[in-house]
Amino acid sequence: MSISLLFISFVVFSLADLPSCFSIDQQYEKCLSALSCGSGSTVFPNITYPFWGTNINKPKYCGQSPFKLSCKNNQTLAVEIGNLTLRVLSTKLENQIITVASWLNGSCPNIWNFSGNDHYTLNPSTKKIDLFDCSDRHPSSSLSNISCNISNNSQKTYHVFRPSSSPPQGCTKVGNIPMLESAKNALHQSNDSNQALKTALDQGFDLRYNIKNQICQACTISNGICGSESRSESFRCLCKDKPHNSSCNDDQG
Ligand SMILES: *[C@@H]1O[C@H](CO)[C@@H](O)[C@H](O)[C@H]1NC(C)=O
Ligand SMILES: *[C@@H]1O[C@H](CO)[C@@H](O)[C@H](O)[C@H]1NC(C)=O
Ligand SMILES: *[C@@H]1O[C@H](CO)[C@@H](O)[C@H](O)[C@H]1NC(C)=O
Ligand SMILES: *[C@@H]1O[C@H](CO)[C@@H](O)[C@H](O)[C@H]1NC(C)=O
Ligand SMILES: *[C@@H]1O[C@H](CO)[C@@H](O)[C@H](O)[C@H]1NC(C)=O
Ligand SMILES: *[C@@H]1O[C@H](CO)[C@@H](O)[C@H](O)[C@H]1NC(C)=O
Ligand SMILES: *[C@@H]1O[C@H](CO)[C@@H](O)[C@H](O)[C@H]1NC(C)=O
Ligand SMILES: *[C@@H]1O[C@H](CO)[C@@H](O)[C@H](O)[C@H]1NC(C)=O
Ligand SMILES: *[C@@H]1O[C@H](CO)[C@@H](O)[C@H](O)[C@H]1NC(C)=O
Repeated sequence: MSISLLFISFVVFSLADLPSCFSIDQQYEKCLSALSCGSGSTVFPNITYPFWGTNINKPKYCGQSPFKLSCKNNQTLAVEIGNLTLRVLSTKLENQIITVASWLNGSCPNIWNFSGNDHYTLNPSTKKIDLFDCSDRHPSSSLSNISCNISNNSQKTYHVFRPSSSPPQGCTKVGNIPMLESAKNALHQSNDSNQALKTALDQGFDLRYNIKNQICQACTISNGICGSESRSESFRCLCKDKPHNSSCNDDQG
């Protein structure tokens, strides 16, 4: 009985082409499994590299340290960029793009003047829109307005003007916010432009994240999963047998 079991195991694992070792590497398995955060697994594929997050079941070795995700209220996948926390709406990892949005709770968008940092840049599909504060409460040429709380009990109204019309006197530009070019165009053509402005903010904007991709491609081609060494943060190719330095085909540890 035990001998035939042993034989079956031998045959199975020989067919699976696993070298000497009988168990699949834990890091490999973890980084291949689905992330956990509400419906976040529909936003991200199982392999999240270079993203990771301790409360989404993706340890740091599944990604690179600057690209940290977290799960808010146990249901919303968020990315932390500088001191901003943005909702992750969708991803195109093959193009190194994530679509993110500000939290809008009636509070003013926290993405004012945002133009990326060392690790993220605005993708060309993202445009900015200028917001104005006007002394005249209802400037007639205003295309749309958004009212939001700047603090506890102080509400502000900001205005957007058509690109063709210069804002009236008494209006000062207070900054810009990023949005998708398609949403910006829709806003400029909309009849219900306050709704279009809300929609534009809800749709978020595209960020491109910057990582060196060549080494990851070599790893992926060898059926590995890109990851990192938690302590040194250097690249690791996670393979079925064990983590390798660059690809599952190298002979190294
Ligand atoms: C994603 O992970 C889940 C849970 O581990 C697994 O059932 C599923 O097969 C994985 N999908 C892919 C495409 O690997
Ligand atoms: C988060 O959601 C999971 C699955 O729905 C549930 O098991 C867990 O108790 C929740 N945790 C908290 C802190 O709400
Ligand atoms: C972080 O937030 C503070 C105010 O809370 C702001 O002054 C500072 O510019 C922000 N830093 C970055 C990198 O956005
Ligand atoms: C948004 O509102 C929810 C409750 O409605 C609150 O728990 C959360 O802290 C708010 N988020 C922000 C950024 O204000
Ligand atoms: C602004 O804050 C007040 C008090 O916190 C709240 O009642 C109000 O609904 C908020 N305004 C918006 C637009 O959410
Ligand atoms: C905001 O827009 C709405 C709809 O166009 C308009 O009725 C309202 O007066 C505007 N609010 C301000 C403060 O301009
Ligand atoms: C908000 O208002 C409450 C009472 O109305 C006050 O205790 C609190 O300090 C205020 N918070 C801020 C950030 O202003
Ligand atoms: C955005 O930038 C403008 C000009 O650089 C500045 O005047 C404004 O205070 C900034 N707005 C915010 C909300 O940080
Ligand atoms: C793998 O990389 C580590 C540093 O990241 C290095 O110390 C080690 O020597 C490398 N292994 C081989 C076999 O090259």
